[in-house]
Amino acid sequence: MTPWNGLINSGYRRWLPVADDTPAISLNEGNTPLLRSAHLSERTSCEVWLKVEGANPTGSFKDRGMTVAISRAAASGAQAVICASTGNTSASAAAYAARAGVRAAVLVPQGRIALGKLSQAVRYGAEIVEIDGGFDDCLRVARELAAHHPIALVNSVGNEPRLAGQRTVAYEIVDALGQAPDVHCLPVGNGGNITATWAGYRTYREAGLAERLPRMWGFQAAGAAPLVHGAPVANPSTRASAIRVGSPATWDGAVAAREESGGLIAAVSDEQIFEAYRLLARRDGVFAEPASAAGVAGLLDRHARGDLEPGLRIVITLSGNGLKDLDASMRGGYTSAETSSRTADVARALRLAA
Ligand code: F0G
Repeated sequence: MTPWNGLINSGYRRWLPVADDTPAISLNEGNTPLLRSAHLSERTSCEVWLKVEGANPTGSFKDRGMTVAISRAAASGAQAVICASTGNTSASAAAYAARAGVRAAVLVPQGRIALGKLSQAVRYGAEIVEIDGGFDDCLRVARELAAHHPIALVNSVGNEPRLAGQRTVAYEIVDALGQAPDVHCLPVGNGGNITATWAGYRTYREAGLAERLPRMWGFQAAGAAPLVHGAPVANPSTRASAIRVGSPATWDGAVAAREESGGLIAAVSDEQIFEAYRLLARRDGVFAEPASAAGVAGLLDRHARGDLEPGLRIVITLSGNGLKDLDASMRGGYTSAETSSRTADVARALRLAA
């Protein structure tokens, strides 16, 4: 068996804007687990699959686009890359830039990104600028800097290589299931991923590799749901920090994915997101970060409202790894037994029968 060697070198290069002789800057991203969820399937009377994107090398789906964006930037001789981020893009950009030997600058909203993500950017050696503002301010500044200075923007907005890389999630799903699902659920923040995932399904269908297209169901946090309201949100708020975005840069792409696929973009409350977050870990053994659970929260919400036909095949993107945000995980406290180190005491603490 040939070992997996990353998205560019293991079979998807022909779908990516990377020339045959362009060296891949890769951490062997992609090829993430697609797991059937027994309890979500049973609960919804559908066939529910989880695409575990937190298994990517830096712990989120961003690596799919970043391998392509940084390979292209490095091949074109870029010396420096820049991005704005709620955390995951900065972690990914920093890692791939380190591998390529180029300078990475990351702009993040001060005090508003999960510590695990910030520490990734620190360890990978990125130059970190904490901005007094939200993600939308960071993106505005990053775009302005990239327009006027020799530094390449690696945010997904207007970055074809990145969006092309993120399409590969759809290729993997169709390759694994032999067909596109009926519905694809995912969290929506800046709008890049729903745009890219939809484009991926379309690409495969146009190539004759899938017979149908899924409906795209995107979910935003209720306090940060501009696409649901149809207007930007000035002060987006949600405890799912990854999708705390008030003015999605890929607005038109997200709306087009919804319209063209006959899908929807709806809001879920933080309570629903965190309920789904706990459920995923306890019932499926998948520790996904809070924002990642929005797709599951949204599916359960549709089901609770009676808006879900039984028998559908559904894939849900779990976009990032739960270990990135331990504050979110431990906020509710936890229970543990304290005992002496005597085996008999531990047996009692665990209520084990003699
Ligand atoms: N899930 C996670 C874990 C994310 O980090 C993001 C976006 C999304 C979902 C939403 O994807 O923006 O393409 O609609 N994170 C960006 C970042 C904003 O900076 O890491 P989207």
